[in-house]
Amino acid sequence: MSINQTVASKAALENEMRTPAQETTVETQREGIAVEEGKTVGTPYSDNPKFKLRNVEVFYGENRAIKNISLDIARNEVISFIGPSGCGKSTFLRCLNRMNDSIGICQVKGELLLDGENIYSAKNDVVELRARVGMVFQKPNPFPKSIYDNVAYGPRIHGLANRKADLDEIVENSLRKAGLWNEAKDRLHDMATGMSGGQQQRLCIARAIAVSPEVILMDEPCSALDPIATAKVEELIAEMSESYTIVIVTHSMQQAARVSNRTAYFHLGHLVEVNETTKVFTSPEHELTESYITGRFG
Ligand SMILES: Nc1ncnc2c1ncn2[C@@H]1O[C@H](COP(=O)(O)OP(=O)(O)O)[C@@H](O)[C@H]1O
Ligand SMILES: [Mg+2]
Repeated sequence: MSINQTVASKAALENEMRTPAQETTVETQREGIAVEEGKTVGTPYSDNPKFKLRNVEVFYGENRAIKNISLDIARNEVISFIGPSGCGKSTFLRCLNRMNDSIGICQVKGELLLDGENIYSAKNDVVELRARVGMVFQKPNPFPKSIYDNVAYGPRIHGLANRKADLDEIVENSLRKAGLWNEAKDRLHDMATGMSGGQQQRLCIARAIAVSPEVILMDEPCSALDPIATAKVEELIAEMSESYTIVIVTHSMQQAARVSNRTAYFHLGHLVEVNETTKVFTSPEHELTESYITGRFG
């Protein structure tokens, strides 16, 4: 991801922060169910991790928003993060491409490895990291440029195409992979901001794909979309899972059930349970997960 894309992402991040999550968090006490710090039930580890995350803690000033979480994210899996609002899903997701760096009071502790390398080490370049680990936000955030230039932006900055024909090919392939080529091919030089919300979100996915990332992070990518646009993005996630590792935060349990291999349930900054998605939704191991999926809170 380029510097400007980082800036655009930061703007999107700030925008999302201006609309604070609804405070629907329920105190663990009230449920009378204990959650043990650092203890995640189920299958949080993998033999083939893309990310290996150990004892991760995140602070906003004094507030410890993530409490000693350890998790592997497997290569080419789709993993969903679910849980009540304010439980730390976005905070944890943003650790994975250092998007929290742009929040002054935020401090990340623990071991966070991508392909075995510490993503927080000083020698790790954040711009390069964000090209490898792309992000799609809740609200589509295309640049105020043409459709073509939105997709070509990253490849241009990273010098991925020397000739116009090469760039054209990257743009076409990225739009095809994002399921947008047929809708966009005759209006490549129109402003991206003139597209529908669903098209804009698929354009943001095309823009993320254009720099050949390894991982795509999605923070509630469908919550601003109608059901048809949502279905298209979900279809896309299924196709993309062949080539990328995908981490998706969703408040829709149906969506988690439709798109992901594993599901991780967060509660008040703890990672309570990680299991195969079908298991989480049919026979959860932890009482808190069960309470959440049966709608007792959230
Ligand atoms: N930029 C921020 N500054 C301070 N506190 C934050 C910020 N973002 C999130 N938090 C706090 O961190 C906790 C987890 O929030 P968040 O990661 O947004 O949860 P979720 O995505 O699950 O709704 C909440 O208590 C929230 O108030
Ligand atoms: Mg969130």
